[in-house]
Amino acid sequence: MTIALAVIGGTGLYQFPGLENIERRSVDTPFGPTSAPVVLGEFKNQRLAFLARHGEGHSVPPHRVNYRANVWALHSLGARRVIGVNAVGGIRDDMGPKVVVLPDQVIDYTHGRYTSFCDVDGAEVKHIDFSEPYSRALRSALRDAATKAEVAVVDNGCYGATQGPRLETIAEIARMRRDGCDLVGMTGMPEAALARELELEYACIALVANWAAGCGDQAEISLEEIFANLATATQAVPKLIAALLEG
Ligand code: HPA
Repeated sequence: MTIALAVIGGTGLYQFPGLENIERRSVDTPFGPTSAPVVLGEFKNQRLAFLARHGEGHSVPPHRVNYRANVWALHSLGARRVIGVNAVGGIRDDMGPKVVVLPDQVIDYTHGRYTSFCDVDGAEVKHIDFSEPYSRALRSALRDAATKAEVAVVDNGCYGATQGPRLETIAEIARMRRDGCDLVGMTGMPEAALARELELEYACIALVANWAAGCGDQAEISLEEIFANLATATQAVPKLIAALLEG
């Protein structure tokens, strides 16, 4: 059975709920090991691949994720549609904690990460079109799935990708807001660009864990708050994906 969909789980999503007849695959890639074995299984009678971006025990920080290996592995197993699930901080007023967002744009502030498969000697140099960083078709399928599953989503937004692992300063978030960012997260890039290089259909489900620095009325952002909000927001993911697969 071909893989109908691959899901890369972020903070708070280390296993895919409801995945049955599981098989774990360690995949050798030219870029080294993936964050965790790829878990193949059945969900809604379709084959789904799941990969925990930070490892199953959250041992890999955002700037050390082997994005190339992860994306390569999913592609090499035959996945052609990939959804990245990412925890984020909310900047825009309608993107408070627990809100689910389908972003449509990206600004990349990360540095020192391998951002392309052509970072290897002798590789073909590719200049991909990235005007729209997420697949239109997959975003629109997710939007329809949200309507069908009665899951509230905000279906646009600009994801600002920061280096981490620390959270941002108030001044950094103020600058990102001026730049046009609506959300801030540490793992959206280079994953989306690498997926495009391999011509994968890729979209992001962003789960708002907290107000970004200086955006809410909290003095400090606490990890407890982040995990509690994510536990709620994550419940939307299997619902959205079930509706997407049921089409
Ligand atoms: N900033 C960056 N990444 C994040 C945040 C944040 O506030 N919350 C969850 N991931």
